[in-house]
Amino acid sequence: MPTFNLKINNKTHTVEADMDTPLLWVLRDHIDLVGTKFGCGIGQCGACTVHVDGDAMRSCLLQVSQAEGMEITTIEGLSDDGDHPVQKAWLKHDVPQCGYCQSGQIMSAAALLKSNPNPSDEEIDAAMDGNICRCGTYVRIKQAIKTASKL
Ligand code: FES
Ligand code: FES
Repeated sequence: MPTFNLKINNKTHTVEADMDTPLLWVLRDHIDLVGTKFGCGIGQCGACTVHVDGDAMRSCLLQVSQAEGMEITTIEGLSDDGDHPVQKAWLKHDVPQCGYCQSGQIMSAAALLKSNPNPSDEEIDAAMDGNICRCGTYVRIKQAIKTASKL
């Protein structure tokens, strides 16, 4: 089985996996970074969102062989102690309900604010469109993104 060196949360991890193993499974099963969730496995729900070279990407769609050489950040690496503005705003607005989708929501929101620090309503809707929340926390997510943009 081939070996891959992956840069995740500023550490290099060496993993053995089939070339086409989704990054999501490498994160969860090989490196025990289980904050990134499996929802659909086909790029339709956003639960598995991580940052790849600073952009929000669905880790279920990225093969481990494609991820080598890229800077990957998971929810565990977003901040040292939960003090990223998006995390603070999420707490302020008490956003999560069951919580399952929330690491993906936070990673998408953080990537949005990095590229667009003061997004309009429409830009928030467009950026968060692919992140599904079965608990319907969308209103609080939007409020929290607006709060985070001011922190
Ligand atoms: S698990 Fe990746 S988008 Fe749903
Ligand atoms: S908080 Fe339950 S699915 Fe989003």
